[in-house]
Amino acid sequence: MGGGSTLPDWKIARGVSKTQPMERWSSDETGLESAVRALGEGHLIGFPTETVYGLAGNALDGKVVASIFAAKRRPHFDPLIVHAESVPSAFALAAHIPAEARRLAEEFWPGPLTLVLPRVTAIPDLISAGLETVALRVPDAPIAREVLRRTKFPLAAPSANRFGSISPTQAEHVLSELDGEPAVAGVLDAGPCRCGIESTVVGFPAPGRVVIYRMGGLSQEDLEAVTPGIEVVRAYDAVGDPEVARRGEQSPGMLARHYAPRTPLFLLDPREDIPPGLSEKRILEFSLEELSATGCLNEAAANLFATMRRLDGAGADALVARRVPDAGLGKAINDRLYRASEKRKGM
Ligand code: TXA
Ligand code: MG
Repeated sequence: MGGGSTLPDWKIARGVSKTQPMERWSSDETGLESAVRALGEGHLIGFPTETVYGLAGNALDGKVVASIFAAKRRPHFDPLIVHAESVPSAFALAAHIPAEARRLAEEFWPGPLTLVLPRVTAIPDLISAGLETVALRVPDAPIAREVLRRTKFPLAAPSANRFGSISPTQAEHVLSELDGEPAVAGVLDAGPCRCGIESTVVGFPAPGRVVIYRMGGLSQEDLEAVTPGIEVVRAYDAVGDPEVARRGEQSPGMLARHYAPRTPLFLLDPREDIPPGLSEKRILEFSLEELSATGCLNEAAANLFATMRRLDGAGADALVARRVPDAGLGKAINDRLYRASEKRKGM
């Protein structure tokens, strides 16, 4: 697996060459120590969670946070998620916790749920993109929890991909996206992510209101069982407008085109004919069966991004994806496919 045992020289070598390759640490004691040391020294690491790999750094250090935006080429209006070791340590970063947030955290943390709450002043402005809120998550993957336990500071971690591209679900994906980035010391390799799709982002814009800003690894149905009457915001078109976000109407990261492969991707219904313009091209098609032989939506979610990456590298003129059933994690899958796709009239 990783080259953790040859680590001690990387810091010195990085001073010599800015394009020093990223380390790949195995998730054993040596690898963990290396990753935690890098974080303590103000570097970034590829951080395995149950959803996707994050690009993690000390959330309480503004310079480190700035280097995350720089490495991802992420615009500063798109705020980051802060990861904490436990429910109390996450809530310590919130200035106010609505009752609904407490109930959701009790039920679903640690897990693929992010809660947007009013922030304490210790959170650098840059993390929140100037908003009064901060997005908080307690991840469930044992390796992520162990890193957080050892660092003793919370970790800001967006998905470890360049802005707008497909989120990484394996260590190789992080290397192919970010190798050579001077701020990134290495990636902790814990194998493929169990869940494979990002966390569900939930906010509380007014008393009694619970809003899903991003569909993700925790289904709307599961959330509804704890806090009924959830609203779903899918206002992709007004995105990037921090004023809209400030009013709590939406999440600034809801850009219409996102998660995009380089090959144009077209999203069709399961039995829809291939449109005339596409049928002459070399296309690669995928549907629920390619993502899960048994049609399991959880398995399909776990395979989605790796499948998109593989097909993107296969040299086709276009990719054609078929919508999956709009239930459970199917909603998050359809959301990502829609956002990866070329928007045509009426779609
Ligand atoms: O599963 C995940 O959530 C992964 C892993 C690494 O934890 N992280 C992730 O981060 O997907 P990122 O940065 O790619 O997506 C964060 C999402 C964005 O849609 C962003 O707009 C939203 O969370 N968000 C962050 N802070 C927010 C805030 N204060 N208000 C509303 N939305 C916020
Ligand atoms: Mg992302």
